[in-house]
Amino acid sequence: MIGVIGAMQVEIEGLRAMLEDAETVTVSGIEFVTGRLEGQPVVMAVCGIGKVFAAICAQTMILRFPVRAIINTGCAGTLCRELGIGDVAVATDVVQHDMDTAGLGDPLGMLSGPNIIHIPAGRRLSALVEEAVAETGHKCVAGTIATGDQFLCQRERKQWIHDTFGGIAGEMEGGSIGQVCYVNHIPFAVIRTISDDADGNAPADFPAFAAQAAQTSIQITASVLRRIPNEERLD
Ligand code: ADE
Repeated sequence: MIGVIGAMQVEIEGLRAMLEDAETVTVSGIEFVTGRLEGQPVVMAVCGIGKVFAAICAQTMILRFPVRAIINTGCAGTLCRELGIGDVAVATDVVQHDMDTAGLGDPLGMLSGPNIIHIPAGRRLSALVEEAVAETGHKCVAGTIATGDQFLCQRERKQWIHDTFGGIAGEMEGGSIGQVCYVNHIPFAVIRTISDDADGNAPADFPAFAAQAAQTSIQITASVLRRIPNEERLD
């Protein structure tokens, strides 16, 4: 079974509408919907916004359903020149830009315990995502997706995240889902279509473009589900 997580209703509802044999279970206030999509057994959920809701959702999904991979689909603000509104960022890895134990001498973003900053996305899964984006004709950039509990709308912060972590796109859940998948040895992918510039225009652009961006990521996710081979491991 493949897990699919979106932060907002609009990031999942288009996939939910395509689901065959849908059944719903609610855990910790999150609805998990199982069924078949593009011939693939799936479980999907709207996790809510931010790292804690995303972690609750990913960990519950892993404990309650036999997921062999998780895809995080949705929108993001761009952190680089190469990505504009409507283009697609695919994670090679994820980082949490607001993780900070520098006061203890650690590098910024380091996750104490595993002691890593960048969590790698599943290589095979992400290669399938890149293939799926290519088929849509959308511009695709693969790189670091930066996550934090912050809607990014200031040039200085955007530049800092790009300079500090090499982030290409910023959002609020992917790094958390990646961390949960990492500790559970589950491959993951993050697909984020750009909805705004993570800068001064973001408060106006996000509501204007989020639904369209979410729909692009949904289309790509469906195409990835079609491409996933029917084997046990997917790293
Ligand atoms: N998701 C979409 N746009 C975003 C932004 N500017 N900051 C954080 N998350 C986002």
